Amino acid sequence: MGGKVHIERATEKELDKLAELYLKGYVGLEEYSYTHPEDVKAYMRWLWRRDQKGIFVAKEGEKIVGFVAGDADWFSKRERKKVGAVHEIVVDPDRRGLGIGKALMERILDYFRESGLDTVELWVGDENERALRFYKSLGFKEKDRYNYWIRMTKPL
Ligand SMILES: CC(C)(COP(=O)(O)OP(=O)(O)OC[C@H]1O[C@@H](n2cnc3c(N)ncnc32)[C@H](O)[C@@H]1OP(=O)(O)O)[C@@H](O)C(=O)NCCC(=O)NCCS
Repeated sequence: MGGKVHIERATEKELDKLAELYLKGYVGLEEYSYTHPEDVKAYMRWLWRRDQKGIFVAKEGEKIVGFVAGDADWFSKRERKKVGAVHEIVVDPDRRGLGIGKALMERILDYFRESGLDTVELWVGDENERALRFYKSLGFKEKDRYNYWIRMTKPL
C-alpha cells in the first residue's frame, strides 16, 4: 500500500475533514449517500457519538486518505445480538486499489475482536459493485436484502 500510509484513531477535530473526504469519495454513488454538506457533517457527528474509539483514519503524512467508522456497541436486529457494525468506509478516489481500504478494515476488525465481539455486519448498496467486490474479497457474505441495500456479515 505504499510505505507512507499509517492508520490511527480519528480525533473529533478531524470530523470536518472526514466529511469532505466522504463527499469526494461518494461522487457517482449519490443514490446511496448524503449529498448535502450539512447532512454529511451531522452524519459524521452521529458516527462519533456512536463510538468515539471506532473511527480510524489512514494518513499519508498529515493528509487523510481514507477512514472507517465502526461501532462496537451495535445491536443487530437480524442477528439478534450485539455485533461490530461497519457504518462507513471511504478511501480517496486518487488512492484506491492500493490496499488502504483493506488495511482500514483489518484495523476495525481487530478493534471489534478486542471488544469481545464475534460477528461484523455492514450494509452496502446493491449496485455498488466496487464495494461489493471489496467486501467479498475480504470474506464478507451476503445475508439478506432490504430495498436496495444488501446486508453482509463475516465471523470475527
Ligand atoms: C470500497 C473502498 C473503500 C475500497 O477501498 P480500496 O482502498 O480501493 O480497497 P483496497 O485497495 O484495499 O482493495 C482490497 C481488495 O478489494 C478488491 N478490490 C478493491 N478495489 C477493486 C476494484 N476496483 N476492482 C476489483 N477488485 C477490487 C481487491 O481484491 C483488493 O484485494 P487485493 O489488494 O488483495 O487485490 C473504496 O473503493 C471506496 O472508498 N469506495 C467508495 C465509498 C464506498 O462505496 N464505501 C462503501 C460503502 S458500503
